[in-house]
Amino acid sequence: MTGTESDSIDLAVVGGDGIGPEVCHSAIAVLERALDGVAALFVRHLAGGAGTFLETGLALPDDTLAACRQADAILHGAAGLPDVLFADGTEAGQDFSMKIRARLDLYANVRPIYLYPGVKTPLADQKPGAIDFVIVRENTEGLYAARGGGNLLGNEVATDTMVLTRTGTARITEMAAKICLQRNGAPADGKRRVTIVDKANVLRSYAFFRQVADEVLAKYPEIEVEHIIVDAMTVHMLNRPGHFDVVVCENLLGDILSDLGAAMVGGLGVAPSGEMSTTHGYFQGSHGSAPDIAGKGIANPTATILSAAMMLDWLAQKKPNPNLAAAAGRIRAAVEDVLAAGTCLTPDLGGDASSDQFTDAIIGRL
Ligand code: NAI
Ligand code: MG
Repeated sequence: MTGTESDSIDLAVVGGDGIGPEVCHSAIAVLERALDGVAALFVRHLAGGAGTFLETGLALPDDTLAACRQADAILHGAAGLPDVLFADGTEAGQDFSMKIRARLDLYANVRPIYLYPGVKTPLADQKPGAIDFVIVRENTEGLYAARGGGNLLGNEVATDTMVLTRTGTARITEMAAKICLQRNGAPADGKRRVTIVDKANVLRSYAFFRQVADEVLAKYPEIEVEHIIVDAMTVHMLNRPGHFDVVVCENLLGDILSDLGAAMVGGLGVAPSGEMSTTHGYFQGSHGSAPDIAGKGIANPTATILSAAMMLDWLAQKKPNPNLAAAAGRIRAAVEDVLAAGTCLTPDLGGDASSDQFTDAIIGRL
């Protein structure tokens, strides 16, 4: 770090399981380069995830939570291993994200779906930038709020309860509106649009979500509001992806739709996310620990690197320091350059570069 830094960033890093530590390693190297002369980066590596659960009995240890609470921001790799299970059959490692979301009230899970040049989409005739929308997933309620509280009756009947509140639905919709106003509208027609996705035709809880979201969005006449039922949404996303600008939905639906969105723009390896409360930010790729490729040095770190850029954008407003937003822009431009060049891509994108070679290429552009 140079002596000209006007700021510092205290970053909590939880590498986690599988490829998690590998992609965090890449993202930190990119952050260090992008922040050179802008801000001093102080990194604290913390334990968490399925491996930590096996060692300590907790996927989110108390000291990790305390350090995450104190840090300026949190960068996460991935948590979870498919064979590390609680007695009820659910994954112990998933406790890391589920608990940190609840404890830090990370209610907004923001997942940009953007088609970069040089990245193949399975959809025909889509040009770079023609897919550019943001999924705003409610992150603390919904069906996942039932985790740990479900019932199994006589090994015959299982129940989990959907939890939606007015407060939770209103604040996630406000976040969707705020993001919509910061963007330039949908790529296909330039219209500012919030698409409310639910299953209001079947479940009372989702009808309530739609009602409250409509009430909030009525305050924003400059935003077009539409309703799409989630099953039809999967079809619309594939058939007319350029129509979408901002999509808001309940937790489980957002989890599923954002993986579909990731697949539309090159797969889980390139899809970032940022999870935010009013005070804390938690940033990670949309993917999991990818045990099938862990330790091979071929994981695509793009999702985590782009998540780190989202983190700088968020910190730029929090601190505030516009130089951090400029650094975020430089990271995205470098990622775009390397992807567009196409000569140094990881195997998931059709190349044969290692994670380190790809990361070095990005650092080189910076
Ligand atoms: P996954 O995202 O780990 O992997 C799905 C497929 O995508 C695999 O074929 C994998 O190799 C590939 N993939 C994922 N990220 C990649 C990357 N960066 N570069 C190249 N290829 C990549 O999802 P899966 O297999 O369902 O889950 C594995 C574990 O991860 C489970 O224990 C699950 O609970 C956990 N998980 C954790 C998440 C988190 O911590 N945020 C999110 C999703 C799953
Ligand atoms: Mg998911």
